[in-house]
Amino acid sequence: MKTLNVSLGYRSYPIYIGANLIREAELFNRHIHSAQVLVVSNTTVAPLYLQQVLAQLEGKQVATVILPDGESYKSMDSSMLVFDELLGRKFSRNATIIALGGGVIGDLAGFAAACYQRGVPFIQIPTTLLAQVDSSVGGKTAVNHPLGKNMIGAFYQPQCVLADTTVLNTLPERELSAGLAEVVKYGLIRDPQFFDWLEGNIELLLSREPDALTYAIERSCANKAEVVVADERETGERATLNLGHTFGHAIETGLGYGACLHGEAVAIGMCQAADLSRRLGWLADADVLRIRRILERCRLPITPPPDLDVERFLELMAVDKKNVDGKLRLILLEQIGKATLPISVDVAMLTATLEEYGR
Ligand code: NAD
Ligand code: GLY
Repeated sequence: MKTLNVSLGYRSYPIYIGANLIREAELFNRHIHSAQVLVVSNTTVAPLYLQQVLAQLEGKQVATVILPDGESYKSMDSSMLVFDELLGRKFSRNATIIALGGGVIGDLAGFAAACYQRGVPFIQIPTTLLAQVDSSVGGKTAVNHPLGKNMIGAFYQPQCVLADTTVLNTLPERELSAGLAEVVKYGLIRDPQFFDWLEGNIELLLSREPDALTYAIERSCANKAEVVVADERETGERATLNLGHTFGHAIETGLGYGACLHGEAVAIGMCQAADLSRRLGWLADADVLRIRRILERCRLPITPPPDLDVERFLELMAVDKKNVDGKLRLILLEQIGKATLPISVDVAMLTATLEEYGR
């Protein structure tokens, strides 16, 4: 097992990465200091892994909330179901919430944990690659609003992250690829050596070779932890983790939550950000091709679906947390391995990118 630390003073926590971690009762005991535990999961993940988790919680007063599967359930209504269960069972303010699932469950359960009695401890057990390398680390929790994704949320750090690499064996191929988009992102924004390594090892990752996967998860989490420690509340560097995300969120919202996977939307968005970076003279044509090529090799889409025209794209991109005083701001690339902080972009240049990528 590898252990990384997210160093945030008294809110510091470990990220454990390794095989079969959800079978290790000692890890649960180390981080659960209450008799009351609520496990939040969904109808896909629970049949696969809930019993293994419950087996480590013997002797505790355990409740479960099993939500339907899907991004559309990352909602206020779902968080109300969690609150109903907590209140119905009279769970107190030291009860622990465990998120067992992908980023949807992690974001939602984390949001509920942040709100219940103004904050109860929670543990992230991410079961998708995307959640293991990104959403479970760093304390961003949220639910969606019909007018914008992740618009209702809180910064709230977990007690620990338990990234069990064995659970990735049941992940559908498309979800594995979606997770790889976020892995590639770390190479692009701040770790050029990792980008090189990924170019040489993508096929191993796609075949779920355990050592390669563990290395990619560890290196991604190490990058994420460094960024979060430097800028927990996203006043600066943390925004670079959103490379491609403003485009991506527009795609997700425009198509309806769930039609395009988050990682797929981010892959397309990173290609659009790369194209805009080329127009600004920062990336060479060859760099843009390298980025498109690695994402294609991950079996990810690199152009948006035809349903979104440029006008609609711009309208959707205007709803983004990075925007200030109504001005659109984007993360771009100065080079492979170095992202910019959010910068205002020339609308004509952005439109040219959207037109090129909208065809
Ligand atoms: P997801 O949670 O919807 O999971 C993807 C699919 O895989 C679901 O159908 C799920 O049931 C299934 N699944 C999960 N684990 C499985 C397993 N081990 N075996 C088989 N099936 C499994 O999607 P995701 O990609 O994990 O997360 C996307 C969400 O994460 C989005 O809501 C996004 O906004 C959010 N996110 C948050 C952050 C953050 O910092 N908080 C960062 C990135 C993404
Ligand atoms: N996934 C973006 C962040 O955690 O800041």
